[in-house]
Amino acid sequence: MGAPTEETSTETAENSATNTATDATVTSTTKNKTPTHRIALGDVTQNNLGQLKRLNMVLFPVSYSEKFYKDVLEAGEFAKLAYFNDICVGAVCCRKEPIPSTSPKQAKLYIMTLGVLAPYRNLGLGTSLLKHILHHATSGVPATPKFTEIYLHVQISNEEALKFYKKYDFEIVGTVEGYYKKISPSDAYVLSLKLVKD
Ligand SMILES: CC(C)(COP(=O)(O)OP(=O)(O)OC[C@H]1O[C@@H](n2cnc3c(N)ncnc32)[C@H](O)[C@@H]1OP(=O)(O)O)[C@@H](O)C(=O)NCCC(=O)NCCS
Repeated sequence: MGAPTEETSTETAENSATNTATDATVTSTTKNKTPTHRIALGDVTQNNLGQLKRLNMVLFPVSYSEKFYKDVLEAGEFAKLAYFNDICVGAVCCRKEPIPSTSPKQAKLYIMTLGVLAPYRNLGLGTSLLKHILHHATSGVPATPKFTEIYLHVQISNEEALKFYKKYDFEIVGTVEGYYKKISPSDAYVLSLKLVKD
């Protein structure tokens, strides 16, 4: 979770995120193990930007600026909404960070936010979002820079997220003391997944 330009504490309940999201019943399998739910990813657009804002308000104890959301609209495959049975319950937002003076052009990919509403966790939605950005960061589409690394900040107390990212080979490469200005603990780990060997 990246530190925003402006942070606020929040005590928002998970089930107030989107009216529709929490009304759904999560049914993973039937008796004969046939999956009964559908996970899909979709683009962030001007029309559903409000859904992303509501999700992030519930998921993260910080608030993000209008500039953040303006940039998200330009992020292409690196900003996605996740749907569980057509209900919007998660999202990922990344930004490209070009590495100056590299030729051919290289960049890092920074995960600003990745989250799934609590009732819909442990169903593979977080993995779908992460795999999607990993795929696009490594697919080598000519128009994109070569990504050398994916990284993010995680609050040191966020064990669920640390477990999640470590499972996908992210490593703690540093600690930033006082990274968050208005939440406690204020320290963040920097987690990184190298895509190119040094
Ligand atoms: C971190 C986070 C995004 C993970 O999302 P998630 O949707 O629960 O992730 P997944 O379901 O893909 O994987 C989580 C666990 O579910 C398991 N899982 C994956 N697919 C599954 C499935 N189909 N059925 C059951 N379990 C499954 C995974 O193996 C993993 O288990 P483990 O870590 O205990 O071994 C979520 O906890 C979250 O939103 N946290 C709050 C926001 C946050 O802190 N984000 C990180 C900072 S940006």
